[in-house]
Amino acid sequence: MRRGRGGPSEPGIELPDPPEVSFASDNAAGVAPQVMAALASANTPAALAYGDDSWTRDLIAAFRRLFDADVEVLACWGGTGANVVGLASMLEPWQAVICTDQAHIVTDEGGSPTRFIGSMLLAEPTADGKLDPAAITRRSKWIGSVHHPQPAVVSISQTTEFGTVYTSDEIGVLADAAHAAGMLVHLDGARIANAVAATGDDLITMVRNTGVDVMTFGATKNGAMYGEVVVYLRADLAAAGRFHHKQAAQLPSKMRFVPAQMLALLEDDLWVANAAHANAMARLLADAVDRIEGITVVGTPEANAVFVTAPDDLLDQLARWSFFWRMGDAGLARWMTSFATTPDDVAAFVEGVRLLAGRQL
Ligand SMILES: Cc1ncc(COP(=O)(O)O)c(C=O)c1O
Repeated sequence: MRRGRGGPSEPGIELPDPPEVSFASDNAAGVAPQVMAALASANTPAALAYGDDSWTRDLIAAFRRLFDADVEVLACWGGTGANVVGLASMLEPWQAVICTDQAHIVTDEGGSPTRFIGSMLLAEPTADGKLDPAAITRRSKWIGSVHHPQPAVVSISQTTEFGTVYTSDEIGVLADAAHAAGMLVHLDGARIANAVAATGDDLITMVRNTGVDVMTFGATKNGAMYGEVVVYLRADLAAAGRFHHKQAAQLPSKMRFVPAQMLALLEDDLWVANAAHANAMARLLADAVDRIEGITVVGTPEANAVFVTAPDDLLDQLARWSFFWRMGDAGLARWMTSFATTPDDVAAFVEGVRLLAGRQL
């Protein structure tokens, strides 16, 4: 069996080879060729460490153009680290973050934000991955009482952990509510490219004009080898951010390799093209599997995640053939596409789904 591919055929059924790519996560994809080339070209000549290099300076200039604002930028090793650095710059230990109970900072960062920042995460229930603005009103009643953690930051993920996409108006409503209550807004943009591609809104419309104060800008899921960036729209917060960056072990000595990757993604809007492709592959997959009896697509994919419900034993068999993650509820699975997913990969995966689902009937 090839490494990284799916498992063996099921007894009593001849299954084709699983697809070349994994539908488990966009993180499972490799590196975009343009990013690989940029890494190689940043290899020489030598450059000073810790961001004192032309790639880092060029990246800051590129982000200032993207936002048409004097943003500050800190390049980090990854998304968890970028969230920690960004949030740490916005909070005192007695303050708290309002977010959903599905937020990556709550469910998938090993408690890292709480450990490094000391702040509680006030996790609000969500049906679709989006934060309800009413949570801000409700939690703001705690402000001023020493007995309660002080809500000071509202954190949202764009796209959400359920693959949904906030409209710019929805972000604006949340940001207005947060600011009216004296709170700041953090946006986890691990998949911001997929949101930009899905809505057609640029970063000025979606992030700057809505009132986001600090965001992370993801690259790993969009074709980078590694690396995320914290973007400070409130430049004053970046002053403390520089120290958190180092203290949270997110300041790479050979920093230039993160900006080199990001610059390759920003060139000719490759970041948006990669994400648009991933989103299109998710729609292709959803449309095809929705026609298969036994599989139900949950909602309409808004970005690059397809959620499906199906009998558990069918999902078990499918995952043995081409691995993917199951979600919390029984019978619920998530299939993700990336810049590297091809229509042939989708067709190969759909064929496996069709064969295994057909056997259930
Ligand atoms: C919403 C979200 N935020 C942040 C991250 C970044 O995590 P990592 O530390 O694995 O790069 C991820 C990765 O899956 C994510 O889905």
